[in-house]
Amino acid sequence: MTTIRPDGEHEVSAPAQGCPADVTRLYGGAPTGGRDDLWNRLRERYGPVAPVELEPGVMAWALLDYKENLSALQQTHLFTRDTRRWREVVEGRVDLARSHPLMAWQPNALFIDGAEHTRLRSFIADALARVDLAAMSRTVRRIADDLIDVFVARGEADLIGEFANLLPTMVINRLFGLPDGYGYMLGDLTAVVFDGSGGGEEAIARLQQYFAGVVERKVGDPGSDLVSWMLAHPSKPTPHEVGHQAALLISGSHMPTTHLVGNTMRTLLCDDRIRSAHADARLSTPDLLDHVMWTDTPFQLLAGRIALQDVRIGGTMIRTGDAVFIGIEAAHRDPAVQRGANDPDTGLASGSRAHLMFGAGPHSCPAREPARLVASTGVSALQDRLGGLRLAVAPEELRPIDSPFLRGLETLPVSFTPGRPAEPVSARTRQMEQVPAVAEEEEPPEDLLGRLFRWWRGRG
Ligand code: HEM
Repeated sequence: MTTIRPDGEHEVSAPAQGCPADVTRLYGGAPTGGRDDLWNRLRERYGPVAPVELEPGVMAWALLDYKENLSALQQTHLFTRDTRRWREVVEGRVDLARSHPLMAWQPNALFIDGAEHTRLRSFIADALARVDLAAMSRTVRRIADDLIDVFVARGEADLIGEFANLLPTMVINRLFGLPDGYGYMLGDLTAVVFDGSGGGEEAIARLQQYFAGVVERKVGDPGSDLVSWMLAHPSKPTPHEVGHQAALLISGSHMPTTHLVGNTMRTLLCDDRIRSAHADARLSTPDLLDHVMWTDTPFQLLAGRIALQDVRIGGTMIRTGDAVFIGIEAAHRDPAVQRGANDPDTGLASGSRAHLMFGAGPHSCPAREPARLVASTGVSALQDRLGGLRLAVAPEELRPIDSPFLRGLETLPVSFTPGRPAEPVSARTRQMEQVPAVAEEEEPPEDLLGRLFRWWRGRG
């Protein structure tokens, strides 16, 4: 039974705007003791819901208990994903275009509810359902091998920058039916957008050009790929709508997949019990991923739900228009859940897929199986190809990314026995990939996408 319930009274238990002195800041670096400890401390102090400060003076609530988070994800009559209804926005204190990127409203399925969400989601989900997972796994493995070939002879690599960050965009680019060269460009542009080190505005404009260009090309020359399938959907989406949903496929998949691969490799490299359980086949790769999704969640907070009416959670009143964050990491630390069937001897939290890593309710991830496939194929390829794999720094030197929402590593430096490039993939195997071989373009066409690619190549 949920403790979330609508409430007619207008009682407020903590200020929804302004900033009480002791509120937890989500900006300005990780808190002392790290975020792991933070969620436990907040639960002890506030119970199932805690006030947090997203940016200076911008307040929100973080849900901490498992059942409250699950309930908020499921109850769209109480919480909307439409961040334009955030009181801070309605009353002009926050400009969504300048606010945190994960709060910024976009015309895609993730930020829309109701019948329009169902329509937008239908052409995403129906296109994803047409993906042949067996053929896709060959594509993912080939891309993983190509990425590993670049550093395998060196005997050292950064598994985030040189592998986990590139793999998801290369795979999606391929599912869009484009040559791999465009995937490297996509990885480059998205990395600039996400790393926050400046240059983001140009990269965002170029990314928009990529999506408009992909749609333009597929309207003129449809193929067996996600964008063509969305364009041909019976609900007749416009090219503009398809462009925005294609962008969501990238933004929704990139960082969580990167950090699922990175956090899984970190777990294997740092946790002896997990490594030996995996090595002697007590822990399969799919179960290993579930263990990591319980214990080292690539999302620690899920951004932006807005309360549609006054609701009481535990003892706290959340007011209409307040922003509420889904506390995935905190929910997984809820003593009532104990991280799935957490084995007291091995520490394994596998055997249960009830974690919140793929969300729940109407917006839950429509790509669980492809996401698992990319991550597990990537992890297996690294293990197969890099003999004697070990961390190149002490575990305590691994630096977490500075994000209240994502949980992962900036870099994962490793060393291994230098190896050789993989055998070239036969023409027949390439034909059996999800999107049969697309030749690299000597001379990109004179369309929007071709011009973008030429610009990117010209940067060297
Ligand atoms: C490990 C990888 C992934 C994780 C952990 C993950 C997790 C999630 C979560 C938690 C949501 C719900 C967001 C919310 O309710 O606010 C979501 C939504 C979504 N994900 Fe994933 N995702 C992953 C990979 C992917 C991939 C590979 C794709 C596409 C190829 C994808 C496409 C989407 C889309 C389109 C939505 C929005 C659905 C909607 O609003 O109806 N995700 N994902």
